[in-house]
This record gives sequence, structure tokens and C-alpha cells, in this order.
Amino acid sequence: SKGAALVSAVAQRLASRRRQVDETLAPFRLSQEQLQLVKTRMRAGLEAGLKSKGPSTIKMLPSFVYRTPDGTEKGKYLALDLGGTNFRALLVNFKKGLQHNVRLYHKIYTIPQEIMQGTGEELFDHIAQCVSDFLDYMGMKNAHLPAGFTFSFPCEQTAIDTGTLVSWTKGYKATDCEGHDVVSLLREAIKRRNEFDLDIVAVVNDTVGTMMSCAYEDPQCEIGLIAGTGTNVCYMEELKNIEKTEHKFGKTEEGEKEEHMQDEGTEGEKKEGDAEIPKMCINTEWGGLGDDGSLDDIITPYDVEVNQNSLNPGKQRFEKLTSGMYLGEVVRQVLLDLTRGGLLFRGHVTETLKTPGIFQTKYLSQIESDRLALLQVRSILQQLGLNSTCDDSIIVKEVCGAVSRRAAQLCGAGMAAVVEKIRENRGLDHLNITVGVDGALYKLHPHFAGVLQETARILAPQCNVTFLPSEEGSGKGAALITAVARQKHD
Ligand code: GLC
Repeated sequence: SKGAALVSAVAQRLASRRRQVDETLAPFRLSQEQLQLVKTRMRAGLEAGLKSKGPSTIKMLPSFVYRTPDGTEKGKYLALDLGGTNFRALLVNFKKGLQHNVRLYHKIYTIPQEIMQGTGEELFDHIAQCVSDFLDYMGMKNAHLPAGFTFSFPCEQTAIDTGTLVSWTKGYKATDCEGHDVVSLLREAIKRRNEFDLDIVAVVNDTVGTMMSCAYEDPQCEIGLIAGTGTNVCYMEELKNIEKTEHKFGKTEEGEKEEHMQDEGTEGEKKEGDAEIPKMCINTEWGGLGDDGSLDDIITPYDVEVNQNSLNPGKQRFEKLTSGMYLGEVVRQVLLDLTRGGLLFRGHVTETLKTPGIFQTKYLSQIESDRLALLQVRSILQQLGLNSTCDDSIIVKEVCGAVSRRAAQLCGAGMAAVVEKIRENRGLDHLNITVGVDGALYKLHPHFAGVLQETARILAPQCNVTFLPSEEGSGKGAALITAVARQKHD
């Protein structure tokens, strides 16, 4: 009959649509073998980066932080935090002797895109202006406080209070900063204002700040992870494995080692196990994995597109597969392709769909939430200016799921490489370790944290990895580092 023929035609069309969507998403579904390979490559990258010679896509930058906090830190510190999208100023007060008694005041300032991508002078003047506002707000213009500067970009450090910006990442491109010491740039901007004084004691990557703030709560924390606008990891490495610092500092390194060991000997609880082994925190900058083409076998045409449209083509290839700034863009490229193929939005490529940046992490997180009914997904898409049918919204949700799952799995594979390295360093059969984590992708996304943890568990079966979300992470951590650095001087 006619009716039966119609039903079967519709069914066939649906089946073919399903097949084509599955084919499009297939390259995002990584096998265990592929994830193992990523882990192996990450491990090789970590090792290469620790060497003083030879090329390496993973920078493995020394942080000059020799130990995690021991609870004896005290005093008032200012923390200045330039991260992915915001600048935050914090006042942190560690109360005398009383561990875990922290008071905190803070204010958040957005950094307009024109400033991120204008001149360096404008950027640092803007930061100095925010600091000025915060000091006014706190009534502390004349306090001349010691400050820690969390600067979440790759910096080549030669001491705790100097850091030369290697290259901008994420959404930043301000001129005349690369190759310059960012602490000097900030000091100069403050001088130009000629209005208040700051004693900038430390420059800190956000991963290091996050590790420090979590280690304040949990002494087993020796790794910091950011899964936010960008992605990165730091961890405590044994000094003897860091060829770079030996190379640079020759004899003084012995002095550093001794000083470090004395630190451990004073007040505060001793950590179990290997507290006597001298270490330094290394900012891996693992987002650079693949910049030599080593991830090309898992990179999809959509990733290629996202890379080409980015501010730093060819750079931070791992970051572009795994972090908040890029996931929405990968999703958008897939949706564009499906729409052009007539599989979505009735084949209409709208202006909205052509707009970079529409799918921020918060929308991906909402779309993928299991509690949301499809109607609500449709209404989110509607808000974004995308008219969808019910079938459309099912497909959009699937695309988001495939892209974010891959991101979490890749981070998990990277994390497995890091914990395995630490386990082997210590010659242990089994390692218990805590990772301090921050970032909107980790904290807001409904599935990212679970998939990350599960992947790390499968790929590093000899390690028991606990993920500890940080509170006020990188800022509080910078204040702790400032406190530690200050205690050395006092
Ligand atoms: C980028 C930066 C890195 C930072 C990370 C997370 O990868 O290069 O320094 O830690 O983003 O904010």
C-alpha cells in the first residue's frame, strides 16, 4: 500500500541520516590502543622536555617552587591572577600558626578582547588599573603588600620572581610581551601610574598555584591540572631529573638543594615517604604535545579547521583537542559540515552557525546535561539563534558528547603518563597521589571529570589518582608561594 511505502521511505531516510552522522563522529571515538599511544607520546614528550638539549614540544618549565606548603605559612598577601578570560585580584590572609585558617577577599575584572590583542603596554596598564581599583576597594593603597602574580602562560623562569614569556597562548596576542620578563612589565606599568607600590615576590603558573592550594589541604597533592580555557599540568619532579636547571645553575644548584632540605627539616608535619628527596615543580605546558605532527593520526579535518582559524596556528595542538576555548569551535565545525550535507537544520547554514565562539563551555555543559529534556536543549539552541527540530537537537547533543568525551579521554591519557612517571621515579609498584584541579571544563561539565578519571584509572592501573577540585585555586596558591618565598628572605 501507499502508506507502507511512505513509512518505509521515511525509515530509510532516517537510517541513512543516522549512518552519516555516525560516520562523521567516528574519528572522535578513540580506541584503547589510540589512547595508549597518546599516553606513550606524552611520556616521551615529558622526558624530552627535561633534557637540556634537543627539540621538545613539551616545554617542561622550571617553576623554582621547591616544596608544597606545610601549614606554617602566615601573613597577608596580594594575589594577582591573569588567566584565560578574567583578571582577578585577591587579598589572602593566612592566620598565624593556625593551619587552614585563610581569609580571602577578591574581585574579578573581565579583560576586553581589544586589550588581550592590543599592545603589551595597554594590557599591563589595564592590569595596573585593576590592581589600583582593588586596593581602593580594600582601602589598602598604602599597604605596600607582597604580591604573587599568577600568569597563566608559558614563562621561562630563572628565579621565583622572573619569567620571560615564551609565547602567548589561548586568546592573547598583545604585542611586545613575548621574550620579555612579565614581572618587569607589570612593575613598569605600576611605576607609570605612580600611585601605589607593590613588592612582586613570585610569578606563578595557574597549574602551580592550583597544586599549591590543594596541597595545603592534602599533602599527597603533587600535581596541578587546569582544564579550562586552556589545559596544562604541573607536578613535583626530582631535581636530579631536571637537566635544564643543572645546566643553567651549575654549582648553585647544590646550595638550592641544601636549603630545600633544611626547609623540610623545620616545623610543620613531615610528609610520609620521600620528603628528603629534593624536588622542583615543573610546569609541563603539555598543551604543546603534537606541535611536531605527532598527533596527526588522531586529528580530524574539523580540528585542522579550528587550528587554522586560531590565533596560533600549528601551536598547542593538544590544547586545541582538549580545552574549553576550542571544544565549542570543534563542535561548530562538525555542525557546519552536517548542515552543509543536509543532515541538520534543514540544510540551512545560518549566520549564527558561521559565528566563531558561539558554543562556550557553559552551553556545551548545559546541552550535555542528562537532566535536560530535549525540549530544553532546543531552547538553548534557540537562545543561540539556532532553530532546531527535535531530531536536530538529538544530533547536536551527540556531537557535543563525542567532542567533549574525546577531550576528557585525551586528558586522562596525558594524566596517566604523568602519574606513571612519578611512580617510576620513586621505584614504587603502587602510587597514591592527589591531583589539584581547576577550570570550568572540569568543574562545570557534566561528564568531563568522570571520563577523565576513568581513563586515567584504566591507563595507569598501578596508580590510585584522586582528583581534588581547588577552591580559589590559583590565586590562593600564588599567595602561598609568595608566603614561602618571603619566609626564606625574612
Ligand atoms: C595554556 C597556557 C598555560 C596555562 C593553561 C591553563 O595552556 O599556555 O600556561 O597553564 O593554558 O590556563
